[in-house]
Amino acid sequence: MSTVITSPNSALQRDGGASASSTSSISLPASVVQTVAINLADRSYPITIAPGLLATPATYAALPKATAALIVTNTTVAPLYADALRSALAPKYAQVHTVVLPDGEEHKNWQTLNLIFDALLQHGCDRKTVLFALGGGVVGDMTGFAAASYMRGVPFVQVPTTLLAQVDSSVGGKTAINHPLGKNMIGAFYQPQLVVCDLSTLDTLPVRELSAGLAEVIKYGPIADMDFMGWLEEHMDALLARDRTALAHAVRRSCEIKAWVVGQDEREAGLRAILNFGHTFGHAIEAGMGYGAWLHGEGVGAGMVMAAELSRRLGLVDDAFAARLKTLVQRAGLPLRGPVLDAADNAGRYLELMRVDKKAEAGEIRFVLIDGPGRACVRAAPDALVREVIDACCAG
Ligand code: NAD
Ligand code: GLY
Repeated sequence: MSTVITSPNSALQRDGGASASSTSSISLPASVVQTVAINLADRSYPITIAPGLLATPATYAALPKATAALIVTNTTVAPLYADALRSALAPKYAQVHTVVLPDGEEHKNWQTLNLIFDALLQHGCDRKTVLFALGGGVVGDMTGFAAASYMRGVPFVQVPTTLLAQVDSSVGGKTAINHPLGKNMIGAFYQPQLVVCDLSTLDTLPVRELSAGLAEVIKYGPIADMDFMGWLEEHMDALLARDRTALAHAVRRSCEIKAWVVGQDEREAGLRAILNFGHTFGHAIEAGMGYGAWLHGEGVGAGMVMAAELSRRLGLVDDAFAARLKTLVQRAGLPLRGPVLDAADNAGRYLELMRVDKKAEAGEIRFVLIDGPGRACVRAAPDALVREVIDACCAG
């Protein structure tokens, strides 16, 4: 059992995240367009955050010139926002095509990915064609992977319309599809040119999806920023009520922290793994229940409770910290307990699924744990202890 990496929490707190913004702790009115920079040399790009951005042609002004754009969206999001995006892109691109994918995590696979390639080829799209991912993390991850591989790489823009996608999946260049044997197992690191977080799109988000997004917001507190965790405790009701100023702050601070981490470790050689707090258990839940049964954020919510409990049992955090996190997860409307994946040997099934995790090395599962408030580490844990945690934290 060895400690692998630790998050340099103090540096992050000192810098205030990637933008080193002096406004990091201040909630600005939602109408102010806020920008967080992802600094990755020639792969740098801005994340813009405000209501109404999606439908505004000026949002896309700085993108490189091209003849064609392809909007990739799904059956739920297309009727809500595809026309507005198409109109905003029309002044810039001579051709704006759209491909509408089936909705759902269970469609994040080769067959659906191929629909994007079909559309690109049917429309004769060249290597300057810009792909626009309009939707949640599923659309974003698949569009990014398609952009990474079509003609060995075409530009793409993330237009995330879920809270989860605005605070996490649209940022940082991880793209992927699922395999029946493991979540996000096939993919590429490929950065977008721009991320457009239009806060107005969150108005139409189902409440269950809002809660799922809050899981990825909450994670940034325990791993990196206890001030932010305190802010979330104060503003959870406002976030659930979709208060725009609160949402703008949550999206900006989450993006700042993610941008800072990705700026240090774009391809997850070490540090970036801390962003997977709660995900080792969560991915096992998603795969074990069948993709789509539990939302990604729901798996992360219950997974963070399990990871905090493992941290507590390893003596890394005290009872009060684990209880505080659990309360926040509960207030966000997320499940606290994992499902039973196998009535005969539930812990064994979790362990089997977690060994497929990308962080696993030579069959040894490596967990993102909390190593004191606001600080994460990645390390292995004895199977017997993990079994105890699963038994204690699962329903039934
Ligand atoms: P999702 O993409 O399935 O979207 C959730 C649901 O909300 C879908 O039914 C979608 O059609 C609908 N929807 C989207 N925007 C809407 C809107 N504005 N109004 C109404 N409905 C809307 O799920 P998600 O939670 O956005 O993303 C989860 C996915 O993201 C998972 O596949 C996960 O693995 C991935 N992910 C990737 C990263 C990364 O770094 N690439 C990080 C976290 C999660
Ligand atoms: N969502 C985890 C990461 O981007 O690394």
